[in-house]
Amino acid sequence: MRKIDFEDIERQGIHTPFYFYDMRLLEKTLRQARNEADKYDFHLHYALKANVNTPLLKRIQELGFGADCVSGNEVQHALNHGFSASKIAFAGVGKTDNEIKQGLVNEIFSFNVESIPELMVINDLALQNNKIARIALRINPNVDANTHHYITTGIEESKFGINHWELDAIIEKLPVLKGINLVGLHFHIGSQITDFSAFKSLCIKVNKIQEFFSSHGIEFEHLNLGGGLGIDYHAPDQNEVSDFRTYFALFNQLIHRKEGQEIHFELGRSLVAQCGSLITKVLFIKEGAARSFAIVDAGMNDLMRPALYQAYHQIQSLTSKVSDVRKYDVVGPICESTDIFLKQIALPQLKRGDILAIRSTGAYGQSMRNNYNMRKDAQEWYQY
Ligand code: LLP
Repeated sequence: MRKIDFEDIERQGIHTPFYFYDMRLLEKTLRQARNEADKYDFHLHYALKANVNTPLLKRIQELGFGADCVSGNEVQHALNHGFSASKIAFAGVGKTDNEIKQGLVNEIFSFNVESIPELMVINDLALQNNKIARIALRINPNVDANTHHYITTGIEESKFGINHWELDAIIEKLPVLKGINLVGLHFHIGSQITDFSAFKSLCIKVNKIQEFFSSHGIEFEHLNLGGGLGIDYHAPDQNEVSDFRTYFALFNQLIHRKEGQEIHFELGRSLVAQCGSLITKVLFIKEGAARSFAIVDAGMNDLMRPALYQAYHQIQSLTSKVSDVRKYDVVGPICESTDIFLKQIALPQLKRGDILAIRSTGAYGQSMRNNYNMRKDAQEWYQY
């Protein structure tokens, strides 16, 4: 991890817990993703839900990424940060009428539609507002992403996307839906996917579904293959950047791309996770019956992933240099038993005031924070 001068950072008024962003690593990651995608003329959107901080968004926008949004506020945030409406995809199973109208007024790239009732409402609202909505149907391909159950989205029991048995009904309805322009197919099977065979299975399903539509005379301007590429939470320094080369090459090889068809992706985690660390201070070392607790000033409100998904984030000490290694449960101050970052982790012997870095927290860290126990938002620091 890049050296942090936290004393200097504290002098500038930033106090623990704070998020540290390595902007050089962000740059390297974005450029690698771009270069690999450019080989095949693939279009990249950034999934705002991973991190909505201005310095990151600005750089992402400047490098030509579009945006993938899941709320009206995210759409507005993307527009405010210079993303062109023609590059904004809007997904989500529960879009409100106001959010739909906002997308219509701004003439966004696509509404990624997740159900037949939603399709009907968008059609009606478009007609009422004298607009034609650009639509991509989000299809549930029933592919298991082999990731954590909570972040699997493309299997039949999941609430996301339109199921294959509904496609006939959609094809029947299409001719009367004058408020929509069907431009794409959208898929997203889950997040933190490291088993590339899941992406292979996705490609096979995408080809089949595309052929089904073709057999009914329906062709698509674009295919949006979602996000989901995982990162290495266990070795963030050894594997700073995800394997974009293999990822994009796989889709290029397996997707049956029609003449002139655009291929889009919407990546979140793989673009921003590794550049962020949550920096926290040890408040107390408490000796329990069978273990030592390192009680830190960051809590599950600052970073929910361990409490919510039992997610692993590497923790390292930035200050203790003692060769004597001890095992600790690193826990936060929140009044909840799940407020644990890691159990039984070996760290150089800690004392009050030591500084720890909780790694790989640039994605779904700050964007999922909350103010439980009336805690303040963690600040942030950008190192260029
Ligand atoms: N597109 C859609 C439609 C999505 O739902 C998501 C993420 C993405 C793209 C971006 O996926 P990514 O490339 O980041 O995997 N809070 C969880 C992750 C939830 C992901 C939700 N959807 C976590 O902390 O692991």
